Amino acid sequence: MTELLSERAARAAMVEVGRRLYARGLVNGGEGNLSCRLGPRRLLCTPTGVNKGFLTEDMLVVTDFGGEPQSLRAPSSELLLHLACYEERSDCLAVVHAHPPHAVALTLCGEDLVPCMPEAITALGDVPTARYATPGTAKVADAARPHLREAECVLLERHGALAMGMGLRALFDACDKMEMLEGVARVQLLASLKRPVAPLSEMERRILAEQRRVARERLAKPPRPWERDR
Ligand code: 13P
Repeated sequence: MTELLSERAARAAMVEVGRRLYARGLVNGGEGNLSCRLGPRRLLCTPTGVNKGFLTEDMLVVTDFGGEPQSLRAPSSELLLHLACYEERSDCLAVVHAHPPHAVALTLCGEDLVPCMPEAITALGDVPTARYATPGTAKVADAARPHLREAECVLLERHGALAMGMGLRALFDACDKMEMLEGVARVQLLASLKRPVAPLSEMERRILAEQRRVARERLAKPPRPWERDR
């Protein structure tokens, strides 16, 4: 497994990412949750029912892969969704679940995220939609699981989206993907008011997919000092 953040750095990063998600309107009130790997079977995650824009480092919950909390607060009600990501992907080091409004609106219209702009391909890759499941139940993880090997970002019908983070900046990586996903969804939704949105050509998608492959290889290498958030 790639090098992991220390628990101290992970706590600081999680507080900052929660703040960014809230500031960008990707979570409101008690919505959304975050987690990151601290070890092969140990996670740091957000507590349930709090506003993720105003986290403090001491509220965060350490849990094992059985979902057994090692802190006083109860972990997120979507912990099983996060665990499914780590179980399916050894390269996944962090998970962000948020409720990006334009992305959710697309799912309400029965639309998928279309690979219609370069960023949708280079930054996100394929973004499938998992069928609706009641939030906070094991069914959310069951609905997302079939997509997790192939995709790092998944829309959750009528509910939100999840993004996986890789590398030492994993939490920030997942947050960036969530922000990007919402941006692409917003543009797609705006454009679809005028006419149906077409994907980029097959050939252009292949070129961009290759750019993505090269960028991901770079990400797997340790970041240089100026590339670290902390
Ligand atoms: P938690 O506060 O339990 O993490 O739940 C928020 C949420 O978004 C549920 O889908």
